[in-house]
Amino acid sequence: MASPEHSDALFGSRVQDCFGRSAGRYEQGAQLQAAIAARLGRHCRRLAAQIPAGPRADLGAGSGLLGRAVEANLNGPPLLRVDQCSALLAQEPGSAAGQRPPQLAWDLNAGLPPALGGAALLASSFALQWLEHPEQQLAAWCQQLAPGGWLVLAVPTAGSFGIWRAAAAAAAVPYSGLPLPPAAPLEAIAQAQLQLQRLQRLRFNRPNRGARDLLHQIKSIGAQASRQRRLSTGELRRLIDHWPGPDHAVNWEVLLLLGQKR
Ligand SMILES: C[S@@+](CC[C@H](N)C(=O)[O-])C[C@H]1O[C@@H](n2cnc3c(N)ncnc32)[C@H](O)[C@@H]1O
Repeated sequence: MASPEHSDALFGSRVQDCFGRSAGRYEQGAQLQAAIAARLGRHCRRLAAQIPAGPRADLGAGSGLLGRAVEANLNGPPLLRVDQCSALLAQEPGSAAGQRPPQLAWDLNAGLPPALGGAALLASSFALQWLEHPEQQLAAWCQQLAPGGWLVLAVPTAGSFGIWRAAAAAAAVPYSGLPLPPAAPLEAIAQAQLQLQRLQRLRFNRPNRGARDLLHQIKSIGAQASRQRRLSTGELRRLIDHWPGPDHAVNWEVLLLLGQKR
């Protein structure tokens, strides 16, 4: 049996591999991620006068949806795009002058890169859930902010995908999606270190066009890596047979928070 370290390393390389293979199609399929990035960006308008000097970063930046949204609403230097997947970083469009924002290929399971010590702004959207220990990583991100520095975060949480879990239970097959972190411990960690300006559990419903369609959507943006084994063909068929009808939506729960380091 693989040791936990070994299976973490295998999972990490599978995550990178899946995102890398779909990198060219990411922005076309990542509509919810784009909407959340735009929403976080708008919330940043109010922070413009309050951000101290120091490094700014988009953690798990991918193609830079959040970095661009934040920069569109804030004066000041660009955010360092940090991501382990170079193929996704390479999707970031350059400016009209042909310049790309600064980027760093880095595995966030190793903590933050040294360049982000005393950070003034750490932004992250739809990335924390991919890390091995989301709660520990969030605590470390908060710790590394400079006094007065800001955390701007969105992360999908365990209240998502109710119909997938229900269908898996009814079909007696494992839930094979990525386990998402529960919201409450993340909220408590942020509250302990930050003065929260905004804390919301957003709930979104998306049309339910069946199990295959949802799995296809997830795969189309490269987000199909999971710690669970793949379902066998028979298990997948049972899951599809037990999937609720279109009157049951596919739900997302997304924790959104903005907070300033005390
Ligand atoms: C769903 S994408 C979100 C990208 C972007 N933040 C957005 O909102 O569109 C998740 C991102 O997390 C990155 N990621 C996953 N595990 C990571 C790790 N261990 N270190 C750094 N980045 C990681 C992936 O490469 C991917 O770019």
